[in-house]
Amino acid sequence: RSSENNELLSSLEQANVYFQQQLRQHPARNKAVAYLKSRGLTGEVAKRFAIGLAPPGWDNLLKHLDEYKIKRPIQEKAGLIIARDPERQQERQDTHYDRFRDRIMFPIRDSRGRVIAFGGRVLGDDKPKYLNSPETPVYHKSRELYGLYEARKAARKPERFVIVEGYMDVVALAQHGINFAVATLGTASNTSHLEKLFRLAPEVIFCFDGDNAGRTAAWRALQASLPAMEDGRQIRFLFLPEGEDPDTLVRKEGADGFLARLNRSGSLSNYFFEHMQQDIDATTMDGKARLFSQCIPLIKLLPRGLFQQLMLDQLAQITGSQRDTIDRLLQQTPAAAP
Ligand code: CTP
Ligand code: MN
Ligand code: MN
Ligand code: MN
Ligand code: MN
Repeated sequence: RSSENNELLSSLEQANVYFQQQLRQHPARNKAVAYLKSRGLTGEVAKRFAIGLAPPGWDNLLKHLDEYKIKRPIQEKAGLIIARDPERQQERQDTHYDRFRDRIMFPIRDSRGRVIAFGGRVLGDDKPKYLNSPETPVYHKSRELYGLYEARKAARKPERFVIVEGYMDVVALAQHGINFAVATLGTASNTSHLEKLFRLAPEVIFCFDGDNAGRTAAWRALQASLPAMEDGRQIRFLFLPEGEDPDTLVRKEGADGFLARLNRSGSLSNYFFEHMQQDIDATTMDGKARLFSQCIPLIKLLPRGLFQQLMLDQLAQITGSQRDTIDRLLQQTPAAAP
């Protein structure tokens, strides 16, 4: 199994070298370079993130990997090529075709820097905008964070990490010297992502897009964060203006503007109580009951410690209740499903 994993990794590495080569050599490179420039990226940052080009056509990578004697089943299992439906296979057509065609390629690396997957972006407005490697024996997307390897190379001991939504957000921030951004790969951020980051830095800031999807993701991220909120760790939330994402914002406001926003970002506890009180009047009895029933199962997910106690104090203060009452409720209430 591990020898197969090595074969998968080496096919992915070959593909990565190939895509980068194509960005330098292929006739389609001009269009690709113009696109990257239009997004504000320099060659230096493109190189740091090993950005490449999957040229147009159905079998460019496939032929290349064939030449390097990488077996088709390995190419396929690595997610690089796709088997054609045998029923619909026309005569003289190849058994497989390239998954990534006519796209800007972002290699996803594991913590040791090995390429384990790719994200590919169209050069214009076609759909789907991003195409990603499937889950493979070497790529489990819910465990990985795009940009973590590059961030650790930029600073051995970062003070904090920012979690953003997209490849372009990570790369655009790095282009502006903000080298501590990572992205979840089209999945919700989970506790294991946070544990990974908290092993390296005491502070994590979530910064999702300023749209409904981003705001929904933020609240889900808060819920997933609760079990990881050991004392000494800090989680904050940066909400962006409507329609902005970290990429568009850092290009408008520069690194200083973005860093200032980061420094003003709110704490997990602020966001928690603000969100909870949104449509609840905590001065009425039914309002208090609703607030208790919504807050307590979540507060119960927190590790026992000072932070949990402070959250309970805050709940007591908001509702004008005794801590005794709240502690009793805490004991009686089951924790929310994590
Ligand atoms: N995503 C994806 N498939 C899509 C759209 C998005 O996998 N069809 C993932 C990608 O990882 C992408 C992230 O979700 O980076 C965020 O999506 P979006 O905000 O649409 O992407 P941006 O990075 O803002 O894209 P861009 O700025 O390149 O338009
Ligand atoms: Mn596995
Ligand atoms: Mn969005
Ligand atoms: Mn976005
Ligand atoms: Mn964007």
